[in-house]
Amino acid sequence: MSPSSTANPLRDGRDRRLTRIAGPSALVLFGVTGDLAQKKLLPAIYDLANRGLLPPSFSLVGFGRRDWTHEQFADVVEESVRDHSRTSFNPDVWNQLKAGIRFVQGGFDDGAAFDTLRDTLAELEKTRGTRGNHAFYLSIPPKSFEAVCQQLSEHGLAQGEDGKWRRVVIEKPFGHDLESARELNAIVESVFPPDAVFRIDHYLGKETVQNILALRFANQMFEPLWNARYVDHVQITMAEDIGIGSRAGYYDGVGAARDVIQNHLLQLLALTAMEEPISFDAKDLRAEKEKVLAAVTLPEDLGAHSARGQYAAGWQGGEYVNGFLDEEGIPEDSATETFAAIRVDINTRRWSGVPFYLRAGKRLGRRVTEIAVVFKRAPNLLFTEGESEEFGQNAVVIRVQPDEGATLRFGSKVPGTQMEVRDVSMDFGYGHSFTESSPEAYERLILDVLLGEPPLFPRQAEVELSWKILDPFEKYWADSGTQPESYAPGSWGPEQAAELLERDQRTWRRP
Ligand SMILES: NC(=O)c1ccc[n+]([C@@H]2O[C@H](COP(=O)([O-])OP(=O)(O)OC[C@H]3O[C@@H](n4cnc5c(N)ncnc54)[C@H](OP(=O)(O)O)[C@@H]3O)[C@@H](O)[C@H]2O)c1
Repeated sequence: MSPSSTANPLRDGRDRRLTRIAGPSALVLFGVTGDLAQKKLLPAIYDLANRGLLPPSFSLVGFGRRDWTHEQFADVVEESVRDHSRTSFNPDVWNQLKAGIRFVQGGFDDGAAFDTLRDTLAELEKTRGTRGNHAFYLSIPPKSFEAVCQQLSEHGLAQGEDGKWRRVVIEKPFGHDLESARELNAIVESVFPPDAVFRIDHYLGKETVQNILALRFANQMFEPLWNARYVDHVQITMAEDIGIGSRAGYYDGVGAARDVIQNHLLQLLALTAMEEPISFDAKDLRAEKEKVLAAVTLPEDLGAHSARGQYAAGWQGGEYVNGFLDEEGIPEDSATETFAAIRVDINTRRWSGVPFYLRAGKRLGRRVTEIAVVFKRAPNLLFTEGESEEFGQNAVVIRVQPDEGATLRFGSKVPGTQMEVRDVSMDFGYGHSFTESSPEAYERLILDVLLGEPPLFPRQAEVELSWKILDPFEKYWADSGTQPESYAPGSWGPEQAAELLERDQRTWRRP
């Protein structure tokens, strides 16, 4: 069959291989002194410039409380770029970027500072040709969103006119539960229309996460098996080997489930389990993700199908580390979990009876994020128990990070005269198959904001559906009045987590 006869008439006809370059625009960054801006956002902006993906007129305006001149702010940006950018430092690229850097000093309650911001943006439009297109990136605590959105609105900065666009970028967490997520959204959408709001779940900017779509929908060999007939269960793991570090203020009262299961892990579940969208347009992709999230059902006995833990003090990798309750800024009776695991099911014909196990934790054995689709055993195994002792279940494992790639696990005959079957792996690694290194998630996402391309940004309906899944677990844990179970640093979480799967006659993978 010729490629044209299989073309999807609903596609926009665009060649997605072509390099996309942002049009004239300015990015206003609130929270320039924050950790996220310094380590990820400013370096990503430089990397985009270095890859030739920003227009010559691109301008960057920092907004913050420090008493900085434009020059001093540019020095701060340069330091962050030199320390953290992915690509090498090129003085020509830097000087071009630097010419468009401005700083506006002020707090979020300072109306005069927003007057200055408006004047600065007008100056950039005139002198650099940004054409009045502005993206406002709120890399600030969510409690400040309201103040900033209102100031932008009152100073005429939120409304685009005459073809000039205005966009706002907000970072997770999108609320603390369903109710607060709705409140937060009402604040943002009272100022910006829904299609101008870009919610960042940076996992969606990762190459490996986008590759789930390629793996599932470009190939013929996986999709026929991707259902309850062949799949036994799915495990989605996000493990970190570090503790909370200096994030006590943020983390206490939030915990592993709200921090990453509600957003990153449920997005991974949605991409793994959704039906094929009719196109990769934002509305089609999001519609399928929403359908599958809406089909998630929770176990009746939430206690038996969830687990919570807190890391204890102990030795990890040759270092003695604090327990969570000894971390600076954490109350000694904190009930916040640093490990959470839940089981959910998906009430669709494709997934009926296939549990999805999600777990996330800190101070675990290794830093790894992966999706393991574990298959049922062959219905009639010719090999005796002894012959297949070291043969597990077939699996497709998508490695999101680090060591990005995918693995097929299957049984193979051990060489020799005996007949013995053992698990082996077939491996695809980005590092081996491609010469170019993957862009950072934030490069892709900032570029998409400037291009106005929304497929990789969850919309409010997805955020709300995810809270509907998590809220009952959170309520159950809060009502139970129990402390999360302690676990040793460097382990794979509390006993409860192992028991959760044992009840279903399964075990967690050791990535
Ligand atoms: N760090 C991450 O990896 C990460 C990951 C996901 C999501 N996020 C989210 O991204 C946002 C930023 O995170 P972060 O880690 O960079 O936070 P952070 O280190 O605490 O920085 C917060 C920034 O907001 C500014 N700020 C706070 N209150 C202000 C006020 N009243 N007026 C003016 N500026 C104010 C701070 O400026 P000062 O220096 O003047 O205090 C600082 O630049 C948060 O919403 C966070 O939840 C972060």
